[in-house]
Amino acid sequence: MSKRHAATIAARAGIAQDSAHAAVTPPLYLTSTYELKAFKQPGPYDYSRSNNPTRDLLAETLAELEGGVKAIVTSTGMSACLLALQLLTPDDTLVIPHDCYGGSYRLFVNLAQRKRAFNLLVVNFQQTGWAEQIRAVKPKMIWLETPSNPLLQITDVRAVCDLAKVLQALVVVDNTFLSPVLQQPLALGADIVVHSTTKYINGHSDIVGGVLIAKSQQLGDELKWWANCLGITGAPFDSYMTLRGLRTLEPRLRLQQDNTARVVDFLAKQPLVAKVYYPGLPQHPGHAIAKAQQSGFGAMCSFDLAADEALLPVFFSALRLFTLAQSLGGIESLVCHPGTMTHASMDAAAQRTAGIGATLIRLSVGIENVDDLLADLQQAFNAVAQHNQQNHQQQLNQQTDRLKQQNEQQQQQFRLNPALSAFW
Ligand SMILES: Cc1ncc(COP(=O)(O)O)c(C=O)c1O
Repeated sequence: MSKRHAATIAARAGIAQDSAHAAVTPPLYLTSTYELKAFKQPGPYDYSRSNNPTRDLLAETLAELEGGVKAIVTSTGMSACLLALQLLTPDDTLVIPHDCYGGSYRLFVNLAQRKRAFNLLVVNFQQTGWAEQIRAVKPKMIWLETPSNPLLQITDVRAVCDLAKVLQALVVVDNTFLSPVLQQPLALGADIVVHSTTKYINGHSDIVGGVLIAKSQQLGDELKWWANCLGITGAPFDSYMTLRGLRTLEPRLRLQQDNTARVVDFLAKQPLVAKVYYPGLPQHPGHAIAKAQQSGFGAMCSFDLAADEALLPVFFSALRLFTLAQSLGGIESLVCHPGTMTHASMDAAAQRTAGIGATLIRLSVGIENVDDLLADLQQAFNAVAQHNQQNHQQQLNQQTDRLKQQNEQQQQQFRLNPALSAFW
């Protein structure tokens, strides 16, 4: 059979493979341990921290979707990131983008500064000169996140991988924002892909999990050894749930992406929006690269509210369908304020450098009817506009009161000034 499409790989994961009872849906193996065939004769499984059939099925499916050799399913997205960092020693240098996910940034900075686990160089891949900066430190590993969280900036994965090859550096790509359905970093030259499976892969906001997919057997084996050693492999039940969510990944994302295109179009015409961040917009600086390396622009977008920061609570509390929450990638629409939520672990200076402003709002667009979503956003913008108007009226009233007071004071001075007595 020819190479299967992503939708087929995901939908058919483990279907009709049960040898015990011919169950169509694969069973969930909750067991922590497995009986040996006989003394000194272990079977393929012995202990669920090391291996578990449900988790293995998820890992095999994700490896196939990303075009990798081996996948290691971890307890969270952060533990997948931590796992990749086990390949580094204190003499090695890790290069990270200046605008990566706040939790990843916190992990990199604290491991480098407080644990001296490796040297760290923070690079802005959006500015010329990034290649020279990387060449100068001869890194062991380059970390990419594209599109980035929350500004959806695009990095040219192939260009970074070409440089990494010359420098014999490993490239790790956090592919959480797109999933293998929309971007396959290993095919672009990367060595490792990580995901927070909490997001699009599971897609239903009911588990936390992660995965790391290696391009080579050697990398995969080393990382699997570390995952077992550290005890950060994923729970079987979470793997089962993730597998269930994964089956609909392609149609979910297609619908979410279509909805996002409509939302972005709406935001671009909204007077209370100062700027929209979405790589699908032709004016987005990464549009051409995104078009070349992605097979879709994704279902995340951000925008700057063109109103005072004090009106953010008005906007958030007016929303009925976009839920104010941290995560992303589920079938339900979410809204978040990166500065105080997802990226709060970055200090003010790092947020400024990353371009995260006080009125930046991030949307994770779900599968609801898009007209309902647009109506929800519209009424939240209306609420802000109304407050703006009330504030404006209040300011006008205060200004009028102040002028009246000044006028009265002047008239009084005028009356009391003997030099002007001739006038009264
Ligand atoms: C891009 C990205 N990578 C990694 C993570 C961490 O994943 P988790 O929350 O599953 O640990 C997140 C979480 O939001 C993320 O957005």
